[in-house]
Amino acid sequence: MLENESAAKEHAGRVREMFGTIAGRYDLLNHLLSGNVDKRWRRIVANRVREKLSSSSSSVLDVACGTGDLALTLFEITGAGVVGTDFCRPMLKIAAGKTSGRIRLIEGDALDLPFRDGTFDVATIAFGLRNLANVESGLAELSRVVKPGGWVAVLEFSRPANPIMRPLFNFYFRKLLPWMGGLVSGSRSAYTYLPASVQKFPDQSQLSLLMEQAGFEQVGFENLTGGIAALHMGRRPE
Ligand SMILES: C[S@@+](CC[C@H](N)C(=O)[O-])C[C@H]1O[C@@H](n2cnc3c(N)ncnc32)[C@H](O)[C@@H]1O
Repeated sequence: MLENESAAKEHAGRVREMFGTIAGRYDLLNHLLSGNVDKRWRRIVANRVREKLSSSSSSVLDVACGTGDLALTLFEITGAGVVGTDFCRPMLKIAAGKTSGRIRLIEGDALDLPFRDGTFDVATIAFGLRNLANVESGLAELSRVVKPGGWVAVLEFSRPANPIMRPLFNFYFRKLLPWMGGLVSGSRSAYTYLPASVQKFPDQSQLSLLMEQAGFEQVGFENLTGGIAALHMGRRPE
């Protein structure tokens, strides 16, 4: 096996194990640490996705769906058929309990999705892309599973645009959040991994560029809460 292939496998194993450890506290911590802003962000994603869907018989794939919050919001707001996929079974189990059959949940790796080319009208990924061993391959896989002319939406932490807000946010994100997250989840490492992975992740314009390089057209982004998070969207060419 190639050296980088084995490093990618190792990375995926660590990520899967980490989310398996915190799955039971994941939702509580998401809402607590974000002051429930995460729910508003997911509603914005679902509303933007709804604008891209032409009929209620459309299909949407939520990749790295975790405990299913975005998948559920997509289902409620768009009325589309929603499939959620994730490679961490404990996260999917929680999703299954919450979505009670409304969302089809399938265990799968975002870098090797178990779907044929061009299956979905829209694919979304929320706070998942940053966890992949290779962002470019993740974008290529998202593009592969949407129909030509379909859309991909990426919700991810980003760079606050306001220079006054940035140091305040960094203090919260790098110092307070790992401490609080560690206390509630019992896994401090998961909540030090969070700011570290965000720091390494491309900012708004870099991610736009990566999406264009992956072949998407009409790429654009919307800053959420001053750029703490950003929603990027791009269209797979016809
Ligand atoms: C931060 S959580 C986000 C969950 C959910 N999308 C949300 O908005 O709350 C990241 C999720 O990505 C999943 N994940 C990370 N790497 C993955 C991969 N290679 N394939 C599938 N799922 C992956 C993890 O298991 C975890 O459930």
